[in-house]
Amino acid sequence: MRKEGRLTRWIGWTVVVAALLLLGFIIGWFAKPTHPNTPNDTPSGKYLREFLDEMRPEQIREHLRKFTRLPHLAGTEQNLKYAEQIMKDWKEYGLDSVEMVPYDVLLSYPNKSQPNYISIIDQLGSEVFNTSLAEPVPEGYEDVSNIVPPYSAFSPKGQPEGDLVYVNYGRTEDFFQLERDMRVNATGRIVIVRYGKIFRGNKVKNAMLAGAKGIIMFSDPADYWAAGVQPYPDGWNLPGGGAQRGNVLNLNGAGDPLTPGYPAKEYTYRLSLEDGVGLPKIPVHPIGFHDAINLLKNMGGPIPPNNWKGALNISYRIGPGFTDDFKSQ
Ligand SMILES: *[C@@H]1O[C@H](CO)[C@@H](O)[C@H](O)[C@H]1NC(C)=O
Ligand SMILES: *[C@@H]1O[C@H](CO)[C@@H](O)[C@H](O)[C@H]1NC(C)=O
Ligand SMILES: *[C@@H]1O[C@H](CO)[C@@H](O)[C@H](O)[C@H]1NC(C)=O
Ligand SMILES: *[C@@H]1O[C@H](CO)[C@@H](O)[C@H](O)[C@H]1NC(C)=O
Repeated sequence: MRKEGRLTRWIGWTVVVAALLLLGFIIGWFAKPTHPNTPNDTPSGKYLREFLDEMRPEQIREHLRKFTRLPHLAGTEQNLKYAEQIMKDWKEYGLDSVEMVPYDVLLSYPNKSQPNYISIIDQLGSEVFNTSLAEPVPEGYEDVSNIVPPYSAFSPKGQPEGDLVYVNYGRTEDFFQLERDMRVNATGRIVIVRYGKIFRGNKVKNAMLAGAKGIIMFSDPADYWAAGVQPYPDGWNLPGGGAQRGNVLNLNGAGDPLTPGYPAKEYTYRLSLEDGVGLPKIPVHPIGFHDAINLLKNMGGPIPPNNWKGALNISYRIGPGFTDDFKSQ
């Protein structure tokens, strides 16, 4: 498992963007189901009706498209451009004042010249299988630059090596079951878990508590596919090359890891990186299920209970490590 990257402080504008997206979602959420039975005779019903009549689905679609078409990772120039666009739009819509408020927060970015990947290493130390360094670029996006490769924000650097252990969703009860019922110890190993059920940061915390050296997360079609829908680009289900990004902090609402409980302004007192709140201590990396199949399919050890099995055509063995056949090849 090779994990490179850097932790950087950046000036962020996420608050504004997040607020707009949230508003869009809230509008979208309430627009549909309440519309037919909204009572017209109460004053609030009247306002709601007027409000909903003002909304145009095409416009919501157009806005979402406008603000999601290009990669705009927090702290990047494109993100600032979008924030400025939103400010301009809001002013045009007649809001009295719109301000951009800078914060100086912590975030990690992957190292472009040294991409993260997972490899299977044979007895001689050769990397006999590597996970993909980037997602396949969909048609029509060939000239879009700055697509950030899959990574888990705030993962520390590192190259841990160890036997692989599959731990279902990486919940407390999954690690319990692993140790108590299956008698497999995750200490000193690299765990692989599927996304879903709990926040990814908590999976990482559970893996750390179990003594794992690193953690890999993948999206299983059992959890990320809607029935009867084709994977992208033919439909909107997650394709096998797609990996979920996101932070892997355990903040419990503390805000910025270096200024927990306080606004991350330029003048705020900062903890050192070692003392930062909620930062994971083991490398973390996300992959798509095409790569996950290759990591999981030759694993040895017990076959898990059915509720540990996802929708991939493999047996979801627990490990640790690979079957003897595979090792001796
Ligand atoms: C990124 O990787 C390159 C090549 O290994 C290395 O020289 C550089 O120091 C790395 N950058 C950071 C910020 O770690
Ligand atoms: C995996 O990547 C390493 C480093 O780039 C390379 O040496 C190795 O040949 C690759 N293995 C495969 C199977 O592509
Ligand atoms: C797991 O292994 C570690 C290190 O080998 C050991 O210290 C620990 O007691 C083991 N845990 C269990 C539950 O056996
Ligand atoms: C599942 O995998 C087995 C063994 O590799 C193979 O024989 C079978 O055709 C696969 N089934 C599907 C539906 O892909």
